[in-house]
Amino acid sequence: MPRKIIVTSALPYANGPIHIGHLVEYIQTDIWVRFQKMSGNKCFYFCADDTHGTPVMISAKAAGIEPEKFIEKIQKEHKADFDRFLIEFDNYYSTHSEENRYFSELIFERLNKAGSIVKRNIEQTYCENCRMFLPDRYVRGTCPRCGADDQYGDSCDKCGGTYQPTELVNPRCANCGTKPVRKESIHYFFRLADYEKQLQNLMASGYVQKSVANKLDEWFKAGLKDWDISRDGPYFGFRIPGEENKFFYVWLDAPIGYMASMKNYCDRNGLDFDRLWPGRNPADKSGDGYEIYHFIGKDIMYFHALFWPAMLTGAGFKTADKLFVHGFLTVNGEKMSKSKGTFIRASTYIKHLDAEALRYYYAGKLGSDVADIDLSTTDFVNKINSDLVGKLANLASRSGPMLTGKLDSMLGKLDEEGTKLINELLSAKEQVKKDYENLEYAAVVRTVNNLADIANRYVEQKQPWATIKNDPEKTRQTLTATINAARILTAYLKPVLPKLADKTEKFLNAGPLSFDNIEKVLENHKINQFERLFERISEEQVKAMTEESKESQPASQPAQTPAQPIAPECTIEDFAKIDMRIAKVVKAEAVAGADKLLRMQLDVGGISREVLAGIAKAYTPEQLTGKTVIYLANLKPRTMKFGVSEGMILAAGPGGKDVFLLTSDTGTQPGQRIS
Ligand code: 2FM
Ligand code: ZN
Repeated sequence: MPRKIIVTSALPYANGPIHIGHLVEYIQTDIWVRFQKMSGNKCFYFCADDTHGTPVMISAKAAGIEPEKFIEKIQKEHKADFDRFLIEFDNYYSTHSEENRYFSELIFERLNKAGSIVKRNIEQTYCENCRMFLPDRYVRGTCPRCGADDQYGDSCDKCGGTYQPTELVNPRCANCGTKPVRKESIHYFFRLADYEKQLQNLMASGYVQKSVANKLDEWFKAGLKDWDISRDGPYFGFRIPGEENKFFYVWLDAPIGYMASMKNYCDRNGLDFDRLWPGRNPADKSGDGYEIYHFIGKDIMYFHALFWPAMLTGAGFKTADKLFVHGFLTVNGEKMSKSKGTFIRASTYIKHLDAEALRYYYAGKLGSDVADIDLSTTDFVNKINSDLVGKLANLASRSGPMLTGKLDSMLGKLDEEGTKLINELLSAKEQVKKDYENLEYAAVVRTVNNLADIANRYVEQKQPWATIKNDPEKTRQTLTATINAARILTAYLKPVLPKLADKTEKFLNAGPLSFDNIEKVLENHKINQFERLFERISEEQVKAMTEESKESQPASQPAQTPAQPIAPECTIEDFAKIDMRIAKVVKAEAVAGADKLLRMQLDVGGISREVLAGIAKAYTPEQLTGKTVIYLANLKPRTMKFGVSEGMILAAGPGGKDVFLLTSDTGTQPGQRIS
């Protein structure tokens, strides 16, 4: 019986491009999904953009567009990148969707009914200028541990210390630079500890790899804490039902996005969601027996091993059968680095190199453990050239052109040694399948390379380039074995190299390769014109790619420190508080010791006011005396080093000489209020 399987990869955030670090996971998942499909199983692969949260909101603001428009654009870019890397989702959706809102509200309501949601008043960091609560990453200041400047509110890049945002020395809002304050607010919490027993059982059932289970044990021992699942507005997300200005925290609706993507697919394809992911109807706990697997990185284990299954359990939904957790990518043994050009975007990579080279290289490194994998650029070039081109593609390119050019494109029959060779290659099939199933892709690549060595040795012994001169039929036998060997090995690597497999299938003229038809030997069969399968790559291509990556990085993360974000909204009521008056400059004079300041006496309709204005580089006292200006009358007086400034006259400009005073010499009267 074919298995029925649902697979997901973590949803990428909609606030930045896909890079080669992300691609480890999508390539790992895509290979597994293709393997399942190629084995005759029914398998769906769902993903989506993770669109909510403060970083997305701030990035959109910095870009000067609505968040909806912003995430739409990013989603398109992400999807285009995935297509280029042959990542074949059955549906690529968005968490900012009605399906996701529906499931988020449903799950929240069910958890609430189960008594697993509580409300509590908490104190948080707040920026009065931006009028928003600041996530830890949006507070910056001096590290309280080592004194390094410009560190995040939760941890220090320099010394690695972790702390509370309140401990930062000289804290400031990363968005506007204002010193934040503490402010209280009611938040919703999910009582994770209510599900400890179920979670322990889930772990005992083999939900995660051994090393992950060990990490989870530590978390269980430390005690499961309540999880804050709400955020105050302004926030880009789903409003919590019954609340004016509170939203679901992005991490609440993100994994629910797996369901939303699936629901959207089901609705468009006449499938019943409840049969695939049972639980919406409490009476039906089994559905149609689909297995569910989530592929994730080790950084988001807590969410997927604890919060997510607890939420599903509390809301009565089926939990996943397994989490597959992978490690991070390093490049040349180090963390990806923008300055070294190793922080490589998917879109940059693809300008210089073939997607299948990266798929092949990652596959050759990936096992089932949580270890980090390293992309060594020299090793990368060597492996592609010596193994993929030199061993695998070589089999077909040694035999294809000779068969089509000199032997009428006809395969003959295998000789005895050829039969032996083919049987040897076929005998690896069950191990290859097992290795794919268990995520041991590096073992598959090793097996294929060893077998390719054996097949290439066979060709070298038989010397078809020599026998073709006087024994075409013997040559045909040799090449028949060689082509069949190439066919089997290509089938083994088809989940990794779908494009190469597609070219081979066309050339073999015998339909799609699958694990079910792998044993079918092609004899007395006509093949098609041969197309080159893979080109060698060079160090120069890699160098050009890293050079371009150096240039293409912005100086800082736009999401964290936008260049000049638009200030938070102010309402018309806020604006109406401003009292602007016509005022006459009675006297203007320079201020000793302050070359930018002018002191001015203003007549505001019989009321006299003194203001200090930083416009001395743009105007002389003579130019100003007698002028009618616009005066901000109700600004709180400010004590400066050179006296008290009672309000402000309105002027604008980049500064220095380029400051332009707002004047009004057209029949207005001093003291007159204007708007
Ligand atoms: O860590 C991340 O990049 C998250 N956007 C992953 C979310 S996975 C799932 F929960 F949506
Ligand atoms: Zn601010």
